[in-house]
Amino acid sequence: MKTTNQNIKPLTTKRNEKGNLTIGGCDLTELAQKYSTPLYVMDKETLVSIAREYKDAFKSYPKFKPKFASKALMTSAIAKIMADEGFGFDVVSGGEIYTIHNAGISLENSTFNGNNKSREELELAIALDIGRVSVDNFYELELLDSILKEKNKTQKVMLRVTPGIECHTHEYIQTGHLDSKFGFDLTQLDSVVELILNKYTNVEIMGLHAHVGSQIFETKVWVDEVEVLVKEIKRIKDKFGIELQEINIGGGLGITYTECDTPPSTYEIAEKILKSLNESIKKYNIKEPVLYIEPGRSMVGTAGVSLYTLGSSKQVPNGRKYIAVNGGMADNVRPSMYGALYTAEIANKKDTNIKEKVTIAGKFCESGDILIKEIELEKPEKGDILCVYNTGAYGYSMASNYNLMLKPAMVLVNNSQSAIIVNRQTYEQLVQNDKIADI
Ligand code: LLP
Repeated sequence: MKTTNQNIKPLTTKRNEKGNLTIGGCDLTELAQKYSTPLYVMDKETLVSIAREYKDAFKSYPKFKPKFASKALMTSAIAKIMADEGFGFDVVSGGEIYTIHNAGISLENSTFNGNNKSREELELAIALDIGRVSVDNFYELELLDSILKEKNKTQKVMLRVTPGIECHTHEYIQTGHLDSKFGFDLTQLDSVVELILNKYTNVEIMGLHAHVGSQIFETKVWVDEVEVLVKEIKRIKDKFGIELQEINIGGGLGITYTECDTPPSTYEIAEKILKSLNESIKKYNIKEPVLYIEPGRSMVGTAGVSLYTLGSSKQVPNGRKYIAVNGGMADNVRPSMYGALYTAEIANKKDTNIKEKVTIAGKFCESGDILIKEIELEKPEKGDILCVYNTGAYGYSMASNYNLMLKPAMVLVNNSQSAIIVNRQTYEQLVQNDKIADI
């Protein structure tokens, strides 16, 4: 069965009688007029659908607990939708923790990840009773225990490890290989356990955590990862007489940015992961651990599109035709940062098959600010609305104010209704933290 992450477009994408693109029953051209562009649009039906597919795919394992990786997209409304679907959160900063708490959601099902958490962030997480801290290194272990002793509290933790598994994705988004900045090397695990048992006694180890990378298409990496984690649980049990009860295998499931992408479905990965887990449980004779996953991109990527208005164009003599949009690398850094590819369509024109090959340029002062290097579009002209698919993950969450451009607004669409979930930034907000120094 095809799952949401295997689609390029949000599940509700259609053309209406005018020939305009619609998502969630809303005409994108009307949304562009009403809310202005650039605009992020999130389709609630697609968000809910992938969340339910994950739960359904893993339902044969009663100790399955999904968390949403907030770094892919965190706003109060998104937090609420994920929590309503029964997802906890992977958080990596005080800002993500604060947003979830501020949305009225308990942090008991959240895990605090990251390779250099600050004292202030750890204090905030502890004060808000975060469910788990995934301890990444010796420095953090000492810092965490000292805060806990000061506050006379204990904290349940996972130990983040690098399982030594490489995946074939962009070098910048690989994390599970041995030469990684994240987590303990497996050869350091015994000293960590010893320190926790004898010295850092306000820390309680619950299990092991790893994450092999992002935008992954090969299922084997999770199969291997599960086995490595279970094997370590067994080793720790034999050596220290304690049996860890939880494993967190991170996120990483890929999505379909273009026709060339072939990610597996949630059902395929669930089947392989659970098979590997059940076999490893038998092989190493341990109790069924709680299984956490923490997908980000696949939870929100497909549900989101970006709308832009086409503006200036330039025909290079005997070369490319550039058409510029009113956004670019500050609202979607992925093409310039990772060479990421996207699919797009003109939202306000029927498919007539009169296509023109163009390059979509951003408007930022940087030659590398090219959103789509080569795409065939329906007679693109100034004033047209361009819909770029699959921008729900790592678009808004990595957005900047480069060139002091305002961050776009975000709307949620559902059942032919639309609602702002993030306001467009204002010039006043841009300067609100500025001060003129009198020195
Ligand atoms: N868990 C941990 C510990 C992670 O580091 C990540 C992503 C995830 C879960 C979620 O992975 P996902 O399901 O989203 O693949 N900015 C890059 C992606 C960076 C991913 C970082 N870690 C991009 O735009 O491609």
